Amino acid sequence: MAGRNKLVAANWKMNGSRADNERWLQAFRAAPAHCETIVCPPYVYLQQIVQGLAGTAAGIGAQNVSERTAGAWTGQVAAEMLLDSGASWVIVGHSERRAACGESDDVVAAKFERAVAAGLRPILCVGETLAQREQGRTQQVVAMQLDAVLRRCPAAQLAAGAVAYEPVWAIGTGRTATPQQAQEVHAAIRSRLASQDPAAAAVTRVLYGGSVKPANAQELFSQPDIDGGLIGGASLVAADFLAICAAAAR
Ligand code: PGA
Repeated sequence: MAGRNKLVAANWKMNGSRADNERWLQAFRAAPAHCETIVCPPYVYLQQIVQGLAGTAAGIGAQNVSERTAGAWTGQVAAEMLLDSGASWVIVGHSERRAACGESDDVVAAKFERAVAAGLRPILCVGETLAQREQGRTQQVVAMQLDAVLRRCPAAQLAAGAVAYEPVWAIGTGRTATPQQAQEVHAAIRSRLASQDPAAAAVTRVLYGGSVKPANAQELFSQPDIDGGLIGGASLVAADFLAICAAAAR
């Protein structure tokens, strides 16, 4: 849709090694992506990826950020430190962190607010579990996750980052939402944003995540409210990630 360039982000999760990353970087540099891209490695590899992608148009993101400012918080990483390491993006509220690390909607919103205050561009992940979908609560759950952020931050700040709709039942399962299922939720997300700020809603990129592969990317990305993807498993193979980026550029 006019005004929103496609964006494809790689979420490597807890994968990689210096040697594997170097091979990925070589393949990526040899065949630059045709759309806007972001690579989100584990914290410890941020500097390797920043150096490896220097001179390319790719952005760098972290997978998490502390909701607190620097200080006595063992094991946490502050937003300013991510910027200082060369990241300009950060994923917040990934469902794996919501579920396994107990991040509530409010903690996620606090992370979002902190990231924006420091000058990072957050990718806010939202999405329902299978049980919630089966109970017909998908839109309600996603609206609650969005509203927690909108209570703290104006919608224009979501436009500076991105929203990623990631149905939990589709993540890493090989089971993708159909383009129609995804489009329905993406449109609902945009209309929720529009109820606060129509201009911001029109330019906010809403990405789809959940078992995106080269074979299904183009059909998903052709939906009017799907502005790219957040790619987990398939992003670990540079050729697959590049093929997904090529699908976004079509
Ligand atoms: P997946 O993960 O592509 O492996 O399903 C997506 C994500 O969790 O961001």
